[in-house]
Amino acid sequence: MDRAQKKKKLVFAINGERFELFGVDPSTTLLEFLRSRTRYRGAKLGCGEGGCGACVVLLSKYDPVLEKVEDFTVSSCLTLLCSLHGCSITTTEGLGNRKDGFHPIHQRFAGFHASQCGFCTPGMCMSLFSALLNSEKTPGPDPPSGFSKLTVSEIEKSISGNLCRCTGYRPIADVCKSFASDVDLEDLGLNCFWRKGENKEEMLSRLPFYSHSNEICTFPEFLKKEIKSKSLSDFNDYYWYSPASIEELQSLLETEEDGNRIKLVVGNTGVGYYKEQEQYKRYIDLRHIPELSLIRRDKTGIEIGAAVTISKAIQALKEESEGGFHSNGEMIKKIADHMEKVASKNLRNTASLGGNLIMAQRNHFPSDIATILLAVDSSIVIQTGPERTELTLGEFLERPPCDFKTIIISVRIPSWESVRRFLFETKTKLHFESYRAAQRPLGNALPYLNAAFLAEVSSCKTSVVVESIRLAFGAYGTKYAIRARKVEGLLAGKSLGLNLLFEAIELLKATVVPEEGTSCPAYRISLAVGFLFDFLYPMLEAGSTNLYGGLNGVYMDTLLKKNSKHESNNDHVHMPSLLSSGNQLVEFNREYSPVGEPTKKAGAEIQASGEAIYVDDIPSPKDCLHGAFIYSTRPLARIKDIQFKSPPELYGVVRVISIDDIPERGENLGSKTMFGTEHLLEEVYMDLPVDFYNDVDKGKACRLKKPLYGLEQSPRAWFDRFRSALVVFDYTQTKSDHILFVKKRGSLVSVLVVYVDDIIVTGNDLSEIDTLKKNLHKEFDIKDLGELKYFIGIEVVRSKHGIFMSQRKYVLDLLQEAGKLRIRAADTPIDQNHRINDSEGELVKDIKLGSQYHFYMETQTALAVPEEDNCMVVYSSVQCPQITQIVVARCLGVPCHNVRVITRRVGGGFGGKAMKAMPVATACALAAHKLQRPVRIYLNRKTDMIMAGGRHPMKINFSVGFKSSGKITALHLDILINAGISADISPILPLNILGALKKYNWGSLSFDIKICKTNHSSKTAMRAPGDVQGSFIAEAIIEHVASTLSLEVNTVRSKNLHTFESLKLFYDSSAGEALEYTLPSILDKLSASSKFHQRDAEIRQYNSCSKWRKRGISMVPILYEVSLRPTPGKVSVLNDGSIVVEVGGIELGQGLWTKVKQMTAFALSPVKCDTSGDLLERVRVIQADTLSLVQGGMTAGSTTSEASCEVVRICCNELVERLTPLKERLQEKMGPISWNMLILQANLQAVNLSASAYYVPEVTPMRYLNYGAAVSEVEVDLLTGATSILQTDIIYDCGQSLNPAVDMGQIEGAFVQGIGFFMLEEYLSNSDGLVVSEGTWTYKIPTIDTIPKQFNVEILNSGHHQKHVLSSKASGEPPLLLAVSVHCATRAAIREARKDHFKWCSSDGSHLTFQLDVPATMPVVKELCGLDNVERYLQSLLSHK
Ligand SMILES: Cc1cc2nc3c(=O)[nH]c(=O)nc-3n(C[C@H](O)[C@H](O)[C@H](O)COP(=O)(O)OP(=O)(O)OC[C@H]3O[C@@H](n4cnc5c(N)ncnc54)[C@H](O)[C@@H]3O)c2cc1C
Ligand code: FES
Ligand code: FES
Repeated sequence: MDRAQKKKKLVFAINGERFELFGVDPSTTLLEFLRSRTRYRGAKLGCGEGGCGACVVLLSKYDPVLEKVEDFTVSSCLTLLCSLHGCSITTTEGLGNRKDGFHPIHQRFAGFHASQCGFCTPGMCMSLFSALLNSEKTPGPDPPSGFSKLTVSEIEKSISGNLCRCTGYRPIADVCKSFASDVDLEDLGLNCFWRKGENKEEMLSRLPFYSHSNEICTFPEFLKKEIKSKSLSDFNDYYWYSPASIEELQSLLETEEDGNRIKLVVGNTGVGYYKEQEQYKRYIDLRHIPELSLIRRDKTGIEIGAAVTISKAIQALKEESEGGFHSNGEMIKKIADHMEKVASKNLRNTASLGGNLIMAQRNHFPSDIATILLAVDSSIVIQTGPERTELTLGEFLERPPCDFKTIIISVRIPSWESVRRFLFETKTKLHFESYRAAQRPLGNALPYLNAAFLAEVSSCKTSVVVESIRLAFGAYGTKYAIRARKVEGLLAGKSLGLNLLFEAIELLKATVVPEEGTSCPAYRISLAVGFLFDFLYPMLEAGSTNLYGGLNGVYMDTLLKKNSKHESNNDHVHMPSLLSSGNQLVEFNREYSPVGEPTKKAGAEIQASGEAIYVDDIPSPKDCLHGAFIYSTRPLARIKDIQFKSPPELYGVVRVISIDDIPERGENLGSKTMFGTEHLLEEVYMDLPVDFYNDVDKGKACRLKKPLYGLEQSPRAWFDRFRSALVVFDYTQTKSDHILFVKKRGSLVSVLVVYVDDIIVTGNDLSEIDTLKKNLHKEFDIKDLGELKYFIGIEVVRSKHGIFMSQRKYVLDLLQEAGKLRIRAADTPIDQNHRINDSEGELVKDIKLGSQYHFYMETQTALAVPEEDNCMVVYSSVQCPQITQIVVARCLGVPCHNVRVITRRVGGGFGGKAMKAMPVATACALAAHKLQRPVRIYLNRKTDMIMAGGRHPMKINFSVGFKSSGKITALHLDILINAGISADISPILPLNILGALKKYNWGSLSFDIKICKTNHSSKTAMRAPGDVQGSFIAEAIIEHVASTLSLEVNTVRSKNLHTFESLKLFYDSSAGEALEYTLPSILDKLSASSKFHQRDAEIRQYNSCSKWRKRGISMVPILYEVSLRPTPGKVSVLNDGSIVVEVGGIELGQGLWTKVKQMTAFALSPVKCDTSGDLLERVRVIQADTLSLVQGGMTAGSTTSEASCEVVRICCNELVERLTPLKERLQEKMGPISWNMLILQANLQAVNLSASAYYVPEVTPMRYLNYGAAVSEVEVDLLTGATSILQTDIIYDCGQSLNPAVDMGQIEGAFVQGIGFFMLEEYLSNSDGLVVSEGTWTYKIPTIDTIPKQFNVEILNSGHHQKHVLSSKASGEPPLLLAVSVHCATRAAIREARKDHFKWCSSDGSHLTFQLDVPATMPVVKELCGLDNVERYLQSLLSHK
């Protein structure tokens, strides 16, 4: 191989395996390569933008001089393959596997029940592994055997950059903690290694042993050798260049005139934010230029090369702060602390300082680093051509955006040595602080505003004098970080006093002004005020008490912290503590063992080791094409044409699939529910207006060669906002044959030209349309649906039972005398005794509830493979394969027996993979049918978020009548539900809302619920659809009544709790027997176990002393009605005695397979032979296959596990009946026999060893009620509006749990998803109806730092429930409702804040009645606490002076 060729060779290792590549497409990411070109599928694609951690792998580099290996995690979705020359990658498969043995991390994830759907687990494992590995390299004494050097709080943080949507993080935290040197094993939660009460030695001996001597070799010897022998030269080819000096770089840049064709790159993390639409011709890797990677420290300051990663910079700053050259150690440490909030560790490990600053300067990225460095007077060296310039950071940021030829060389943080000398002379002191307010305390979320302040102060007798001050603010909707110079000028040289502080704040408000279009501008300004106040006020206080005078020293922070009465709020910069502990209490039931045991989840280890196969892990069959949807860019529009920016062939587009491709006998069908069907693809109108192309740059636009559609389309069709067409790509036809897949699917940008149509009203019942049209504006004010510009109308949906669910007005009237619940038409008067008008008080209010996105970690995906004789196999990640089979068959115009839908496991569903997975599977099938090639789709996160629809937003107006005691006598509700463009499952919402809302006895209840058709993507099922809103509405009403009457909320709650009699009236037969109504006893128990009253008193005490932090506590009951559905099942015993089970239910991560396995082992146990070992080990539940097991139905509504267990029990009973006589005969003859012998004999004697059944629940137990309650305590930061959940205690009634570990996981996971709904997640559309929350940047689900710090859950074993499946109850959805307790507790804390606020304003008491929106995000909370609370406070102080 000649030298030139050598240079073009890209060499690296993956899990010890050597890879050598030529001609690599430079935009190829490591994740793309891993997933499409290797056998390693452990790293998953969750977002493609660095925001989820599903793709995390370990990257190792070898230094041949020091003979050291450096190991760190990276997000492989952003890491470019070409940057890995000479590196080694370890994925979760590299840690261990089924064949060679799992790693203790894998085993502990399984044993602590920390993997549900498993999609996040490989990434979690790698983050944890890296933390353990690196801790071993740190100095210090060896940890106790079996543990690492990390402490509990350090190790929990290792996974703070990883998202999990299933578990609620508590069990994952336990896995991490189980490796910590200071862990108390007794503090760890429910696991399958030991039982509570065992001694510590026993516990330790059962834990899969961890020893760093078992360490995985992360860097293979062969690669070390190649590096040492220099046989591995730098990797340079035409597309990827690694210059070794600035001069070389300059000459490369000289040759290029077009900045769009060349890209300088270090970590490539910038593309996580600024998605690349076009391909660059050439990449230039800056990491090999020594000057850019230097860190120089001397007495004048620290100079950090631009290519130094943020992690390395943090490390250098920390080292410096711990005894470097500089006296400004405390400041340096704070800068490092702040940097630890930038992105996540996986990102910081490759993201460079220079990359961050250039993004801030050129693209106006809301950088943290620019702000903090600006405050400490940093300077920057840049080079353009031969010219090198040193600028202050401020000058650099203010310059016009740098062109592509401008390079950042380094950044310098000055030393304050000179200042120090000056300080000692003048007795001035320095004070530095930095701030950021973001949705997640540990980072991994951009801030609403960041700030950093540096003051030099001196003291006079009774005050502090600000000698000089630097105030930097950024990320608040400004082009770049700024200094508030006027405020600095005002403060400089003055004594700090209240008047001055007030004046400074007023001036600041005129300085920090977000640009137009920035969200929550007033909130951001209030943050700036709050932070400045937090910085200056303690000094002011210290000065006035003369605490400060006379003390020498450079920094005054410690002093201030010790002495200030003001509780500083800068915790959001310093590392907050995470989940400190959790308790799980479970009453085991061994009556039906192994049912009732906390058996570990089936397949958990292979999920952790990356061996579990999800749909996108199935290797692409030969000639496979990849599909992507083209969706409309405007809502409520007619599609006129579809155009590509460049010829589609350039993107590898093979064909655009349109409705013309639907076979003649097929239907344009994308999904179906009991309420109707939805189109798969939409038509395109060709009757273009003359000026149609006005907006389009004709020079660039390229029309498709032939019209896609004919002209015969119906004149007035409704267009969904998506699925207008499907593009199919052939990646093997693109310019290089090094494929790649996922990103390109998303990055192909098609120009979709659309035309907005008039608002029209449709309905199934034509006679009603006219009336609706006439009444549209009169009856349903458009404004009623919030900001929606297009309110389309009320869809008339006829349910199966012949009721217009949404169109008519009903009164649900509780007639005590008749002892019955009656539904009557609205025009019939409500029972006189229960009229609202007769109540002693009446309240009318509006509530608005937003949407929520499922955020399953695996987005919608399918693979369709055409088979012989017009058949199709579709692998789909779907919750209802059977319905998908029907839809695909109808779309293709073939009989159902031609379509086999297979679902093995789903990477999280939460309802989102019921209806919304069908069009994805059907589109694949259609394209595969048309082209007779396999086709797969894996939606990118953005498309998924646009299509998903999510939870139903709604607007509620209630009128409630009540007595002065708090007893509610009547309630009327008007609810408008935003269903989006089509019916989906929306008609079930009214019943679900009422089901959960009726948890209280409302006296008379009437309601008018309308399902509204709007210009949004159709809303769909999401965990507890309608129920969560119903439960919230009930709590909101109770809280309003309580504040109106100035009563304790709990008093009003208990006044209106059902007796069993009233429960029966409201729920009829679902209420079951009196003994089954466990809610009152749960509440008593919880009140005692959580010490509710004692803590309530303590909180009052705390609040009376604390001005800027308030706490609240709340106890909330829930009631949830579920119903069972018919389910098929089949149990077969194979020749060798192993057992295979098929059920209708799908494993979504909820542990269905595990419970089914347990039930099989239990139900077959009557024929189990003593010598046959553990039957459980012999059972395998297999994937759903619609041609193997029919009538599978849908996995939804929390009861599929139970129903699947029940059908398995029926099958097993059948087998037991067939096998028992044989067993008895054999035993008589042979004495004890083994299971294997029994099965062998059964085979010989032609016993049918396969039993199938179809379980149809009896009418009475079909519906039943679930109960639970939660107490949550929160603390609200009044300067930022941030809410921390200090503690949550839950008691949930699982009947007799089929598997308490699985149910615990469901309870905790659902609760945390509920926290997301109530506190964090904003799934927003703009006023046109377009989704604007499109990815991990804007949509924030809970992370480990946002869950309760103390999380206690008790599963109540409420004994025998005769009519339930082995007395069990559901756990999948109901616990989500319990998260309302966090919202209520937040409300209580805000109430306390408002008391103070209005005291400062000398206002009356009306402020105590207020509405807290959902989600209660930081801006929402802060607004209620008073955006001007600081000013009000200062004014009140000034007025009392
Ligand atoms: C998920 C995520 C979260 C984040 N959160 C935060 C946050 O909370 N706060 C924050 O401040 N930042 C945040 N960032 C931004 C992050 O810090 C930057 O993406 C990163 O520092 C860029 O460095 P890089 O080496 O990856 O740059 P690259 O992506 O390699 O390059 C980015 C740009 O800079 C150019 N460039 C790089 N180096 C130089 C140089 N020396 N001279 C001239 N041009 C150069 C490149 O050509 C490119 O245009 C986040 C990023 C991600 C992906
Ligand atoms: S962080 Fe890479 S896929 Fe989400
Ligand atoms: S187990 Fe974490 S996302 Fe499903």
